Amino acid sequence: MIAAERVVKVPEGISDEQAAAMMLKGMTAEYLLRRTFPVKAGDTILYHAAAGGVGLILGQWAKHLGATVIGTASSTDKIELARAHGFDHVINYKEQDFVAGVAALTGGKKCDVVYDSVGADTFPASLDCLRPLGMFVSFGQSSGPIPPFSMSLLAQKGSLYATRPTLFVYNARREDLVKSAEALFDVVKSGAVEIKINQRYALKDAAKAHADLEARRTTGTTVLIP
Ligand SMILES: NC(=O)c1ccc[n+]([C@@H]2O[C@H](COP(=O)([O-])OP(=O)(O)OC[C@H]3O[C@@H](n4cnc5c(N)ncnc54)[C@H](OP(=O)(O)O)[C@@H]3O)[C@@H](O)[C@H]2O)c1
Repeated sequence: MIAAERVVKVPEGISDEQAAAMMLKGMTAEYLLRRTFPVKAGDTILYHAAAGGVGLILGQWAKHLGATVIGTASSTDKIELARAHGFDHVINYKEQDFVAGVAALTGGKKCDVVYDSVGADTFPASLDCLRPLGMFVSFGQSSGPIPPFSMSLLAQKGSLYATRPTLFVYNARREDLVKSAEALFDVVKSGAVEIKINQRYALKDAAKAHADLEARRTTGTTVLIP
């Protein structure tokens, strides 16, 4: 059972499978790019784990907005995938120091915003990828939580902003949920953002889907078919 208040109508031109694949990740990309830090043409962004489900949507959408889009990923295959989804540059953060990589790619100017869902492994280095007054957006913790830190760290790193947003809060009001979904449907229907389903599992194999996710074997979107 789901409350009618939390349901949106899937428009013509969006398949049920696409809708299943994209709503959570796509609306996350929507609020991160349009509301947490409104990305505009000419901005430079860093997005960690670029080949993940949110990353492959957010990369395309950020490119559509006119940003320079830098990502990180842990393998050659993932780097290629991210590059095919809007990312201008992708750094292998298993092999290369991504702070040095970002400095080189931006000529020392660094980024306007860092979107970080990796957590422990990329903190505090992510802060060193930001220009003064830049925005650090911590929206997940795939590698473990960021440990407690002193607010003065944000002063030392350039009077930074930091936030820990959740989709739940951003789309808590029905009007925001509807607007968020509509913005997502629009970019998908226009072709600016393509939703690719890279893994399909039968619902009975849900445990295998979770194991593959944990082992970092998945890319993009996964759907379970009842
Ligand atoms: N706050 C919110 O509103 C919100 C909403 C949706 C999702 N999220 C969070 O955002 C994150 C990304 O979502 P997603 O759907 O894009 O996830 P995903 O497809 O599962 O991607 C996660 C990626 O994180 C990277 N990673 C780095 N360290 C890892 C580790 N120790 N174990 C596993 N993966 C690791 C892996 O990429 P590499 O191999 O390239 O490192 C992995 O593919 C998740 O943490 C999720 O919980 C938050």
